[in-house]
Amino acid sequence: MDTYLAITSRREVRDYEDRPIPADVERRILEAGRLAGSAANKQPWRFVVVGDVSDLSEAVYVPENVLKAKLVVAIVVDWKGSAPFDAGRAAQNMMLAAWNEGVGSCPNGISDRERGAEILGLEEDESAVVLTFGYPARKRDPESRSAEEWIERANRKPFDEVVKPL
Ligand SMILES: Cc1cc2nc3c(=O)[nH]c(=O)nc-3n(C[C@H](O)[C@H](O)[C@H](O)COP(=O)(O)O)c2cc1C
Repeated sequence: MDTYLAITSRREVRDYEDRPIPADVERRILEAGRLAGSAANKQPWRFVVVGDVSDLSEAVYVPENVLKAKLVVAIVVDWKGSAPFDAGRAAQNMMLAAWNEGVGSCPNGISDRERGAEILGLEEDESAVVLTFGYPARKRDPESRSAEEWIERANRKPFDEVVKPL
């Protein structure tokens, strides 16, 4: 898929088909995260692939996202300095690589920090964002519209409100 079309057509997918993600696709998603750039190339993250998601589902804002997902990855970083920016880059790499494979995804915030930390084995200054992946329950076809049409339909602030000349 064209990169710009992938970026403009991608929306969060929270409802997943009951179909496993093949091992090679899962590997590509995780490699996309691992290959992300980071400040001074420190790669300040670890990616925790969560097998049994039942406990974790109780520590996030939307349990169903996690319970229905076919791949759940927690991106763990020290939540100070530039690491959160790096984590965002890794997350978006993974989600775009997934989209290129027809796999939908969504970031999930942890609502119960204490429980989340215990389940994911977080250190004191560490925090995590949980990414859920799966084939969309409702068919999505990025190629059905042009990038411009996807932009037109996006629920985003207007260009001139966000982009300012100095
Ligand atoms: C750090 C972060 C945490 C998020 N947490 C949740 C969440 O807990 N549950 C959820 O359903 N979506 C969550 N989202 C997804 C946002 O709601 C979504 O990115 C935004 O509404 C845009 O959605 P769209 O791309 O489909 O238009 C989160 C996004 C980010 C970046």
